[in-house]
Amino acid sequence: MPDPNIVVEKDAETLAATVAERLDEAIDEALRTRKEAHVVLTGGSMGEAVMKAWAARRSEHDWFNVNLWWGDERYVAADDDDRNDKQAADAGLTKLPVPSENIHRMPADDGTDVEDAAAEYAARLAEYAQSNTDGLSETPPVPTFDVVMLGMGADGHVASLFPQHPAQNSRGVVVAVEDSPKPPPTRLTLTFDALQNSREVWLVVAGEEKAEAIAAAPRKRDPWNLPVSNVHGVMGTTYFLDTAAAAQIDH
Ligand code: 6PG
Repeated sequence: MPDPNIVVEKDAETLAATVAERLDEAIDEALRTRKEAHVVLTGGSMGEAVMKAWAARRSEHDWFNVNLWWGDERYVAADDDDRNDKQAADAGLTKLPVPSENIHRMPADDGTDVEDAAAEYAARLAEYAQSNTDGLSETPPVPTFDVVMLGMGADGHVASLFPQHPAQNSRGVVVAVEDSPKPPPTRLTLTFDALQNSREVWLVVAGEEKAEAIAAAPRKRDPWNLPVSNVHGVMGTTYFLDTAAAAQIDH
């Protein structure tokens, strides 16, 4: 397991701007070489900060061929402020000229059973799987993502994959999470298999409370106790950190 690349910026705002710039570079490369781009967005405060910085760049892309997904979502009503997709919209997603059909929101709680909602998103991912395989053997039925962006909790959770949570044992590419230790309690999340079907995996982490978990991540794969240790890109993994989160990492 190759060590991650480490990028450190002085604070969360500067970090978000750097990630937004690198995201445009990754999308340019994907569109140039594969004529389509698939990016997985993250929730949380860094997800919002990156979206704000990215929208402010007003980048020029062939947006028609850019697809945006989510790594996880809170299973609440569509207009609930807790929704990751609503927080992204409020942070600037609506300013990006991505066709609405390319913004693949996870289902909201409309009374549908959360397991059925997970299956619905898995089916959507599968529709795009064949359009973007490039010889990666044994890939799960999801697009080969170009970038999966992930925030991380102080406990080392990524998306809604929490330490010692039974949802980690569910099979498939999208699973329901009940009794999440981070509210709200019911969520949908991509699994490790889906999150790792990506050329690049980026951890975007700020704050001193995250320093211990992100420093432990590269030492040993231990998904049950430290989910962040179990997400790596096929081509590379980069930790984008502010100085506080990088305090225990040589960089
Ligand atoms: C969520 C997020 C979650 C988040 C981390 C870090 O839906 O809550 O996807 O995985 O990224 O908890 O959140 P912060 O960046 O706000 O600390």
